[in-house]
Amino acid sequence: MYPKCLRAIAALALASLHSAVAKQRIAPPPGALAVRAGTPPASGMFETINGALAALPNDDSSRTIFIFPGVYNELVNITRPGPLTIYGYTTDTASFAQNEVVIQAGLSLADAGSDDASGTLRVHKDSFSMYNVNVTNTFGPGMQAIAISQYGSKVGLYACAFLGYQDTLYANEGTQVYLKGYIEGAVDFIFGRHGFAYFGGNTIASKGPGCVTASGRETDADGSYVFNQNTIILAPDAVPNTAGYIFLGRPWGVRPLCRVIFKNTVITAPLNQTIWSIWDPGDERIDDVFFAEYNSTGSGLTAPQRPSFSTLLTETQADVFNISSAVGSDYATWVDLDYLV
Ligand SMILES: *[C@@H]1O[C@H](CO)[C@@H](O)[C@H](O)[C@H]1NC(C)=O
Ligand SMILES: *[C@@H]1O[C@H](CO)[C@@H](O)[C@H](O)[C@H]1NC(C)=O
Ligand SMILES: *[C@@H]1O[C@H](CO)[C@@H](O)[C@H](O)[C@H]1NC(C)=O
Ligand SMILES: *[C@@H]1O[C@H](CO)[C@@H](O)[C@H](O)[C@H]1NC(C)=O
Ligand SMILES: *[C@@H]1O[C@H](CO)[C@@H](O)[C@H](O)[C@H]1NC(C)=O
Repeated sequence: MYPKCLRAIAALALASLHSAVAKQRIAPPPGALAVRAGTPPASGMFETINGALAALPNDDSSRTIFIFPGVYNELVNITRPGPLTIYGYTTDTASFAQNEVVIQAGLSLADAGSDDASGTLRVHKDSFSMYNVNVTNTFGPGMQAIAISQYGSKVGLYACAFLGYQDTLYANEGTQVYLKGYIEGAVDFIFGRHGFAYFGGNTIASKGPGCVTASGRETDADGSYVFNQNTIILAPDAVPNTAGYIFLGRPWGVRPLCRVIFKNTVITAPLNQTIWSIWDPGDERIDDVFFAEYNSTGSGLTAPQRPSFSTLLTETQADVFNISSAVGSDYATWVDLDYLV
């Protein structure tokens, strides 16, 4: 009797300890509009994300949308002026691994007419946050096909997953952070022209031959891409013969002013020995690029032979590239610091 009771108490204590670690978000927070897939739609809820977005006032008020589990086959273009937060249902807010909400579409550049228009999720507003949502472009290999097209400032993407093949994540304008999420693609899959972006604690998965980044920075007023403490892996379903054909980046810029910094990266994806790539043979674009690394480690780096247009930073030099340099010294006023690494 007594030991059994003790065991029950111990089990309870363990259960509450676990729930303290794995924080769940399985119901709409007060005031949130709720989206729930399925027929018939639950009463008082929206069947689509676009339905909930259309119901929000087009004003400066702060609003929240909560999404129940499901695959939402929609193109989502977020434009309302006021702050907006989207939460996906999850039993573990700290990680993308338990995400149960998927926004999915499959437009290519040719279908849509522009990189931006091909985006499954397009952010054309400031002060936007999203937690625990997967965003997929299902088009596959062959052409640009964007999962997230990001033009806003003060935009935070937390424990989200972005999946595509070519040009998955378009960090094109504004200040933005990607924290503790998952980013998958093959060709130039983190790219953009003017964006100020910080990537911390993400799993970055290479799905086929190509470059992780393609910075298209055009002027000195444009931002940089700063990566800190990310892990670069070979995607579980990577295409054959990817090993040796993965690079950290190549210069997309018409004027080669790229600024891409990888700090403290654990790389298990089998990189090409040169680590960084030219744009194309005959159109190298390597004058004035700033492709830098500090403390890259992992089994994916075998006998690196870095090209002269890349830079290995000392610890002191690397300290200068941090979240402040990437998105501004006011970052603490809009970034969710619980996710910051
Ligand atoms: C998406 O939002 C942008 C910015 O407001 C707008 O220019 C564009 O027309 C919108 N696209 C669609 C398809 O609604
Ligand atoms: C969301 O993406 C992550 C990373 O690929 C995966 O672990 C998770 O299972 C995905 N969730 C769904 C519902 O597809
Ligand atoms: C590395 O990339 C270069 C240029 O694309 C290619 O010629 C070479 O075969 C690659 N190396 C390996 C080991 O795959
Ligand atoms: C190098 O990066 C690894 C992985 O992020 C980290 O654990 C380690 O502390 C870093 N070392 C230095 C000297 O910064
Ligand atoms: C970023 O680096 C600058 C320059 O070294 C430094 O002044 C600042 O305190 C750092 N900020 C953070 C958040 O580490």
